[in-house]
Amino acid sequence: GAALPLAGRRVVVTSGPTHEPIDPVRYIANRSSGRQGHAIAAAAAALGAEVVLVSGPVSIPDPAGVTVRHVETAVEMLAAVEAALPADVGIFTAAVADWRVAGEASQKMKKTGAAPKLALVENPDILATVAKRAVDRPRLVVGFAAETENVVAYAKAKRQRKGCDWIIANDVSHATGIMGGDNNTVHVVTADTVEDWPDLPKTEVAARLVARIARLFQEDRP
Ligand code: C5P
Repeated sequence: GAALPLAGRRVVVTSGPTHEPIDPVRYIANRSSGRQGHAIAAAAAALGAEVVLVSGPVSIPDPAGVTVRHVETAVEMLAAVEAALPADVGIFTAAVADWRVAGEASQKMKKTGAAPKLALVENPDILATVAKRAVDRPRLVVGFAAETENVVAYAKAKRQRKGCDWIIANDVSHATGIMGGDNNTVHVVTADTVEDWPDLPKTEVAARLVARIARLFQEDRP
């Protein structure tokens, strides 16, 4: 039969939240489940791609047929992504913490009566860092954007600011429980098009997204 459409292509996917330590037992996190990113990794592997999934801490299993790098923090996630390059495609689904704690305590912090003040520093933007690389930039860089208003307008601006090729935007205002939920309603923003996809299971969003990517790569096959 015909070769799978992503055979011979390398795809790097980030997924899940990051955990940013405060001290050895405490961290800052978010509610990302990793379900969308893991589904994308699985869907790319199903089309024949060699997939590296860089995952923050999640409670879902590693997808079959995918190389999984488990990380905790944003800094570790960036290092694992860079170590996985070169790749043909980068898909940045992770809900990376915007900040980490400056000067993480090496021992468990004790109650003293005065509440501690946490100083935060900005984390690296993994998507923008990879999208703006001079060397080994993947041919297609895809980011996500969760917005509560002006979804497409903000996504277009984010696509340009981050230097990526496509932004998958989702409206997290009306759709209750997109984060952690089964379904996703997305808009695919490219350089010159906007596609409004119907409300779909995350697995179906993943399948359609990687099929669309496969089409892009098949267009330049002889
Ligand atoms: O700026 P914002 O967080 O809305 O951008 C979301 C997109 O950027 C997602 O694709 C997310 O994975 C990526 N991102 C990243 N590193 C960060 C922050 C966001 O890769 N530090």
